Amino acid sequence: MGYRVAVVGATGAVGREMLNILEELEFPVDEIHAIASRKSIGVEVGWGAGVLKCKDVEQFDFSTVDVVLMSVSGAFSREWAPKIGAAGPIVIDNSSAWRMDPDVPLIVPEVNPDHAELALKKHIVANPNCSTAQLVVALKPLHDAARIKRVVVATYQSVSGAGSKGMDELWNQTKGVFVLGPSEPKVFPKQIAFNVIPAIGDFRDDGYTDEEAKMWNETHKMIDPDIALTVTCVRVPVMVGHSEAVNVEFHEPLDEDEARDILREAPGLLVVDKREAGGFITPKEAQGEFPVYVSRIRRDPTVENGLSMWVVADNLRKGAALNAVQIAELLAERGLIGRKVLA
Ligand SMILES: NC(=O)c1ccc[n+]([C@@H]2O[C@H](COP(=O)([O-])OP(=O)(O)OC[C@H]3O[C@@H](n4cnc5c(N)ncnc54)[C@H](OP(=O)(O)O)[C@@H]3O)[C@@H](O)[C@H]2O)c1
Repeated sequence: MGYRVAVVGATGAVGREMLNILEELEFPVDEIHAIASRKSIGVEVGWGAGVLKCKDVEQFDFSTVDVVLMSVSGAFSREWAPKIGAAGPIVIDNSSAWRMDPDVPLIVPEVNPDHAELALKKHIVANPNCSTAQLVVALKPLHDAARIKRVVVATYQSVSGAGSKGMDELWNQTKGVFVLGPSEPKVFPKQIAFNVIPAIGDFRDDGYTDEEAKMWNETHKMIDPDIALTVTCVRVPVMVGHSEAVNVEFHEPLDEDEARDILREAPGLLVVDKREAGGFITPKEAQGEFPVYVSRIRRDPTVENGLSMWVVADNLRKGAALNAVQIAELLAERGLIGRKVLA
């Protein structure tokens, strides 16, 4: 017997991928509901070979489903996730609203599956920020091998990280440069077409942005609070796929060949690392794919135990929708969702 599933935010960049991935992973679905705002009632979204018509979140009876994959805003989630959880299902939420709540597990199944039980506390599970998700998949096996002391990251984040409006803005500005004339930035603070923007999110008093703080806070919650992590988040004119230049310093020795072997064996990762032109992965190749790719693994000779690498993944998949469906699989495997458990 399968599960009764609702996807909330089904018309969005992440919500549409959630529906694709439920199918691709053959998650056992008995019933599926696509939910969005009132303005989207009747809007069709793809489901397998057919379509689903969207329903209004205000009118939907959430007590009739087992699991809710939610991908709207933080403000929406703060209001709706507790109400939906109280009605019975477990909510797997993609916003930042619950990630640092001590009573809500923040999960990447390859990294901290044993946090899953905590899902029953509030009936909410948080999905990490897209840049953190791919980073921790690469860091965890290295941390287990040689204990990470410090990580320095620069991200190269695609516009789909800002949702479908971000993708539209890159598309329209790019056309504008050649055909239609300039258009004012709306989603991003400066022109993104043919440019890079060295800050994502709101500024904090310490000069970092909230996107940057998410990366160290979430890494601490999922792997180890003793890992020192500093990061600069950069938006680049790529539609889908986040890239990260990652420098890691370890407490214990770990040479580059050992690291490559460990990463090759680790779950969720694919190493593509040939020291020749094109022997690495770019976001274009990661788009539509499941794994987190690691390339350019090399020793950092400026510190005693250091390593640099390039980490790329599809932010709409491992950074959001795929991870959410993998969480649903983990909860199902451990008997934490379903009519019997939550009755
Ligand atoms: N994009 C990424 O790479 C990524 C990665 C990790 C996490 N996230 C997080 O996932 C969430 C969604 O991101 P996204 O990129 O998919 O955004 P998006 O493309 O803008 O989609 C937003 C979705 O939310 C729905 N929505 C908005 N207001 C609503 C309301 N009042 N009631 C019901 N539904 C409402 C929209 O439905 P309508 O069409 O009806 O307005 C749409 O389906 C955000 O919290 C984001 O931070 C995104």
